[in-house]
Amino acid sequence: MGDKEKKKVSEEEARLRTILDSMVEAVYVTDGKGRVTLTNEALDKLLPKEAVGRRAKNVIKNKVLRRAIRRARKKGVAAQVELESTIGERTYSFQAQVSPLPGGSGVVTVLHDVTRLRAADRIRRDFVANASHEIRTPLTAIRGFAETLRDGAINDPEVAVRFLDAIYRHSLRLQRLAEDLTTLAQAESLQHSFDTVTTDVRAICRDSANSLEGAAHAKEIDVVFEIPDEKVVIDISPRALDHALINLIGNAIKYSPRKTKVTVRLKSSEEQVVIEVEDQGPGIPRESRDRIFERFFRVEGGRSPQEAGTGLGLSIARNMIERVGGELALQSEVGKGSLFRITLPLDDDDDDDDDDDD
Ligand SMILES: Nc1ncnc2c1ncn2[C@@H]1O[C@H](COP(=O)(O)OP(=O)(O)O)[C@@H](O)[C@H]1O
Ligand SMILES: [Mg+2]
Repeated sequence: MGDKEKKKVSEEEARLRTILDSMVEAVYVTDGKGRVTLTNEALDKLLPKEAVGRRAKNVIKNKVLRRAIRRARKKGVAAQVELESTIGERTYSFQAQVSPLPGGSGVVTVLHDVTRLRAADRIRRDFVANASHEIRTPLTAIRGFAETLRDGAINDPEVAVRFLDAIYRHSLRLQRLAEDLTTLAQAESLQHSFDTVTTDVRAICRDSANSLEGAAHAKEIDVVFEIPDEKVVIDISPRALDHALINLIGNAIKYSPRKTKVTVRLKSSEEQVVIEVEDQGPGIPRESRDRIFERFFRVEGGRSPQEAGTGLGLSIARNMIERVGGELALQSEVGKGSLFRITLPLDDDDDDDDDDDD
């Protein structure tokens, strides 16, 4: 090979290298014996150790993939397969394209990581299953009561009133569920924008607590405000904050025993505004503390289905707060109570440099 030709070959190699390394997909090439001869950066990043020289079946472990690579090598057929494989601690979902190289010189495998896509699919399926279960329960009850009434119970006024009342309560539950589902969809949708208004947060705290006065009064729960005397003004969507607070204060009242205290506390500093809702209720067991923010999750308890909420409240609240750039966190001790904390950072767009001298 002349110098000119050599230069051309190495240029070709460099070109190929750059193309391979700029791919999002993980790529590896195996030779006629099933050993890895070439990898790209995306594959190297995925693996705990160098793959070149090892047997392909030990690099990405999966039966279906191994067969596809063997068939490509022996019969020269390309294949597309979907597979799961565990690398280190993590299990990945991949879509793999397996293609024989010309002249039976080996096989190239391209792995497209679809792990997050598959996880999102699963969440969506669970959501639909949960939602339809939540709809079916009151619907079955309504149908049962209506049938019993039609079949004669309507002639017994006492029973009729009781059944009608049950139908009414279950239909309210369905309505709440429909409303919560709509709100949740809005809170989760990035297309839905929340209009920001310059607001005194003290008013939102007071208004949302006041709208629950009836529920608090019925259980003789004292709602106490610890709110500064000066205005706490921020740019926020009042609707989002109000919605989150009503859910938190509502829960505090709903899950606390009678004659206890619920505190709504507002604190502000230069960097952030913090709103806390603290109760003296049963608290939330450690193992449920993250899960209560999941859609439909409810802590096991002796509540009757009519009384129970939809299990969507906290997931709506967290989404709403995150949509306005804040965080919602929980501290709780079983038997002592719970404290939900909303933290809203104040963005300091004026660049005053922090000179520490003086
Ligand atoms: N302040 C609280 N004290 C004790 N448990 C709570 C409190 N807030 C929420 N929980 C638990 O978290 C679960 C999820 O709350 P949420 O999403 O608002 O659903 P819902 O109130 O509709 O059941 C509730 O079912 C309840 O078990
Ligand atoms: Mg709730």
